[in-house]
Amino acid sequence: MAILTSTMKGDATRRGTAVVTGASSGLGESFARHLSRRGYDVVLVARRADKLEALRRELVQCGHHPTVVLADVREPAGRAAIFDAVAERPLNLWVNNAGLGCVRAGVECEEDDVTSVLRTNIEALSLLSIAAAKRLSERRGGVIVNVASTAAFSPTPTMATYGASKAFVLSFSEALREELRASGVRVCVVCPGALETEFHGRAGLEMPPKLLVRAADPCARAAIEAALRGEDLYVDGALNRAVTAFARFAPRRWVQRVSARAMGVW
Ligand SMILES: NC(=O)c1ccc[n+]([C@@H]2O[C@H](COP(=O)([O-])OP(=O)(O)OC[C@H]3O[C@@H](n4cnc5c(N)ncnc54)[C@H](OP(=O)(O)O)[C@@H]3O)[C@@H](O)[C@H]2O)c1
Repeated sequence: MAILTSTMKGDATRRGTAVVTGASSGLGESFARHLSRRGYDVVLVARRADKLEALRRELVQCGHHPTVVLADVREPAGRAAIFDAVAERPLNLWVNNAGLGCVRAGVECEEDDVTSVLRTNIEALSLLSIAAAKRLSERRGGVIVNVASTAAFSPTPTMATYGASKAFVLSFSEALREELRASGVRVCVVCPGALETEFHGRAGLEMPPKLLVRAADPCARAAIEAALRGEDLYVDGALNRAVTAFARFAPRRWVQRVSARAMGVW
C-alpha cells in the first residue's frame, strides 16, 4: 500500500510541477536536482523514504519546493498516490525513470525478478505515461520523458527481459508521441548507456570497464535540455550514439552476435 507524505505543497508559482519517478538514487536523483534548478517544483517518487527525505532536505536548503511521494509504481495505489499529489497543481513535466534490470532474465532468473522488471519497466511506465498524457493534454502542453536505454536498440543476451522491456519503452513512447502531436504534449525517449548508479549492483551485474561508464548527472542535464528543446530522442554520449546507430542500421543477425559478444555470452 502506498503512503503519501506530501511534505511541502510548493507555491506552484514558478515553472510548474515536474514528477520524477525513481528519484531516490542515480539518474532520477539527478533529474530532480536539475529540474529544481530550472524552477520546477519537483515531486520525488520512489519506495525508500530515507533517501527521498535526504534529497528533499537538500533541495529545500537550496530554496526549492520538493514534495515526497512514497510509492511503488507497480501498484495501482502507488500510481494513484502520485496523481493525488499533483491533483491541484499545474503539471508540466513527467519523467518515467523508475526501472530495474535482472541478469540472466531470459533463462535462469527467478520468476519474481522477471515479473518485477516487466511490471516496473513496461506496465507501470505505460500506465503512468497514459495518465500523465491525459493530464497534460487538458493543459494543452507539457513534456513526458521516458527513460529507456541503449539496450532498446538491440537484443541483450543475459538481460533478455530488461533489453526487451527497454525496446518496448522506445516503441511505446514513439507511438505515444505521434498520437499526442496535435495536443501540444511532447514525448522524449532518453537512452543512456552504462551509468554510474546503483543499477548494476541491484541487478546483480558487474560494473563495465570505467571507460564505458558515464556519470548520471551530465546525462540527466543533457536529457532535460534535449526534452525541453522538443527533441524526440536523446542518446547519451558519442560512443553510445555510434553503437545505437550500428544497431539500427546493421543487419539484425550481426547486431545479435555483437551484442552477445559484448555481454560475454561467448
Ligand atoms: N545505470 C545504467 O547503466 C542504466 C543504463 C541505461 C538505462 N538505465 C535506466 O535508467 C533508469 C534509472 O536507473 P538508475 O541507473 O538511476 O538506477 P538506480 O540507481 O537503481 O535507480 C533506480 C530508481 O528506480 C526506483 N524504483 C525501482 N523500482 C521502483 C518501483 N517499483 N517503484 C518506485 N520506484 C522504483 C528506485 O527507487 P526505490 O528502490 O527507492 O523505489 C530508484 O530510485 C532506469 O529506468 C534504468 O533502466 C540505467
